[in-house]
Amino acid sequence: MVRKILGMVVGLAVGLAFYGFAVAGGQGPETIVLHSKKGDVTFNHWKHQTELNIPCAECHHGPGHSEYKPGMKIEKCETCHNANMPNKKLNKPMKAFHANCKGCHKQMAAKHPNAPTKCNGCHKKK
Ligand code: HEC
Ligand code: HEC
Ligand code: HEC
Ligand code: HEC
Repeated sequence: MVRKILGMVVGLAVGLAFYGFAVAGGQGPETIVLHSKKGDVTFNHWKHQTELNIPCAECHHGPGHSEYKPGMKIEKCETCHNANMPNKKLNKPMKAFHANCKGCHKQMAAKHPNAPTKCNGCHKKK
């Protein structure tokens, strides 16, 4: 059922994109595969923006952790979350992702049991 609905949503988005509108979709890539040795994580970027109504600023920020502004250049997390970051709790992409993604999922667990908090809920081995 969920797949069917998602399929319809994707179909609608594609249809609208064809006519030059971007109403139904989100912004940036629709899905993002975050590669990891633990198993790739398939992240539905648009679903998080539209269906779940999470603002961009919840995940994106600028240099020096400045607040997200519409139209701001969005860089990959690893551009800043790498060994050069002084804060040892966030100095790897993995740490930034776990804090952001798992952090929210844990907070939402009661209301949203489908937000994965277990390793293999996000990391899928091929
Ligand atoms: C729940 C978290 C989350 C939300 C909400 C979110 N994004 Fe993202 N977005 C990501 C992640 C994760 C990436 C991939 C970052 C990476 O590859 O390091 C990304 C990537 C992007 C990229 C591509 C950057 C690149 O060069 O690879 C754009 C553009 C973008 N987001 C725009 C937006 C906009 C605009 C919004 C709000 C309408 C938004 N995002 C909301 C998590 C989010
Ligand atoms: C342009 C640089 C830059 C980019 C790009 C960036 N960050 Fe950050 N981020 C920072 C800085 C600086 C801090 C503050 C570090 C500290 O506390 O010392 C921070 C803090 C955080 C924190 C902890 C505070 C909070 O807001 O909850 C999380 C989680 C986080 N980033 C996740 C991400 C994720 C996920 C991405 C990619 C979608 C990302 N960051 C992209 C620079 C960046
Ligand atoms: C601010 C809250 C929040 C953040 C941040 C967030 N998520 Fe989620 N995520 C959710 C909620 C809520 C659901 C449950 C959706 C449902 O009930 O259908 C979810 C569901 C998921 C799912 C299950 C499949 C799906 O698409 O429904 C995956 C996988 C996922 N998130 C990955 C991620 C990743 C990876 C990140 C970080 C880049 C992330 N999420 C950041 C709230 C969040
Ligand atoms: C909410 C989703 C989510 C959950 C739950 C989660 N992870 Fe991750 N994990 C990610 C994301 C996203 C990345 C970043 C992938 C990347 O660097 O592009 C990551 C990265 C990693 C990496 C780094 C792999 C590499 O190639 O550097 C390891 C190791 C890891 N996770 C282990 C775990 C373990 C162990 C658990 C359970 C205790 C867990 N993760 C739970 C989303 C999740």
